[in-house]
Amino acid sequence: MKKFFLRTMGCQMNDHDSEVIKGLLLSLGYDQTEEIEEADLILYNTCCVRENPERKVYGNMAAYKRLKEANPNLIIGICGCMTQQKAELQNIFQQLPHVDLIFGTHNIHRLPELLARAEVGERVVEVWDEAPYAEEGQDFRENLPVERSHRLKAFVNIIYGCTNFCTYCIVPYVRGREHSRLPESVREEVAALVETGYREITLLGQNVNAYGKDLSMETSFSSLLKELNSIEGLARIRFTTSHPRDMGSDLIHAMASLDKVCEHLHLPVQAGSSRVLRRMNRGYTRENYLDLVEKVRKAVPGIALTTDIIVGFPGETEEDFEQTLSLVEEVGFDSAFTFIYSPREGTPAARYADQVPEEVKKERIYRLIELQNKISAQHIQRLVGTEQEVLVEGRDTQGLVGRTRTNRQVHFAGSEELVGELVTVEITEAGTWTLRGKVVHTQA
Ligand code: SAH
Ligand code: SF4
Ligand code: F3S
Repeated sequence: MKKFFLRTMGCQMNDHDSEVIKGLLLSLGYDQTEEIEEADLILYNTCCVRENPERKVYGNMAAYKRLKEANPNLIIGICGCMTQQKAELQNIFQQLPHVDLIFGTHNIHRLPELLARAEVGERVVEVWDEAPYAEEGQDFRENLPVERSHRLKAFVNIIYGCTNFCTYCIVPYVRGREHSRLPESVREEVAALVETGYREITLLGQNVNAYGKDLSMETSFSSLLKELNSIEGLARIRFTTSHPRDMGSDLIHAMASLDKVCEHLHLPVQAGSSRVLRRMNRGYTRENYLDLVEKVRKAVPGIALTTDIIVGFPGETEEDFEQTLSLVEEVGFDSAFTFIYSPREGTPAARYADQVPEEVKKERIYRLIELQNKISAQHIQRLVGTEQEVLVEGRDTQGLVGRTRTNRQVHFAGSEELVGELVTVEITEAGTWTLRGKVVHTQA
């Protein structure tokens, strides 16, 4: 039996695309391996949102040349967002001649044919700029096999692509225009998942709040949530990512009133200075963002707020950066993903003249991380002594493991039979990122 080694980089869209790629490869009779040396197919599902992971791909791929020399039948492939950039595609093609299978984010469904061609010795390159949409709401991903990495929690796409064009971001160029799935397709997929035992879904999109805007029918993200909330047997609904500009009061109301929608909101702020936000083309000011946070917290008490922040965006002054620090302090995020601005070829910000020196960016990110770590620690400590609803996800070396509605990981003692159940856990201890507790109530 042939074996594949699959490595996935980037965001949850890529994680989920890899679940489809796995599904396809298994259906072709391939088996998965974690041992790269024994693979007949090595495939990298890549990300290009920042430069560092891209460099890593080139480094690793160069090292696989040796494997290819030892086994000429080995197929080495690159897919995902990197291939969607014209210049990068050219580089991959020229600098990595031993890579023989290259396909784009809109070509995943073509994998069986492309792989068959590679298997007989052809060097295959297929990267489409946009998905081949037959009709509104139709998508090539519908009905492809999916091999999910978890048996209780599932990713479900609701909207593909992005047309926001934040000036730093490459995603709109590599993922195509915004394109919503039909509400009934989403509902069917979720209902089928619940039927097979799934308890939690995470709805995916670069901007889930834009869901439905491209469809001719009357629908919205909040009405989709309402519809999914009525599916019996489903315990939890999560979603990512929300754009602050499109976060309307209907969505806040839905989060407050729908029992399955968890109290966690990932709301990337990117910067605390309105001047920087304007240059980023984010479509909101510092004040808009703070107002929004206040509304959300009022409507959904105890909600966990997480965010993404970029430091060293072109033209960011010390004063601008201090506004980011003060916003972080004022909001008090549960946690934050922090990034050093990385110029991406083809995006407007990469051409701005006032790029921030690397040392300055580094110094700023250290200060930001230090502040956020302090705040994160306060948040997690506050949970000690509280009772939390936990979905029991499985067992690891530290006992049963699950997550709170606010997406905190908790370990506790208990029997295997609780896996898949909602239990109430009293939190007894807090580490840096995870909690320990004891079960005080089971609903089963
Ligand atoms: N669609 C999501 C995020 C997609 S990318 C959103 O709009 O929030 C994930 C994160 O990567 C972004 O939120 C941003 O913080 C970061 N990012 C995007 N482009 C970047 C760049 N050029 N340099 C550094 N960080 C970047
Ligand atoms: Fe990138 Fe902005 Fe789209 Fe998010 S909303 S994917 S940051 S362009
Ligand atoms: Fe990266 Fe593509 Fe996601 S660029 S962040 S994997 S959409």
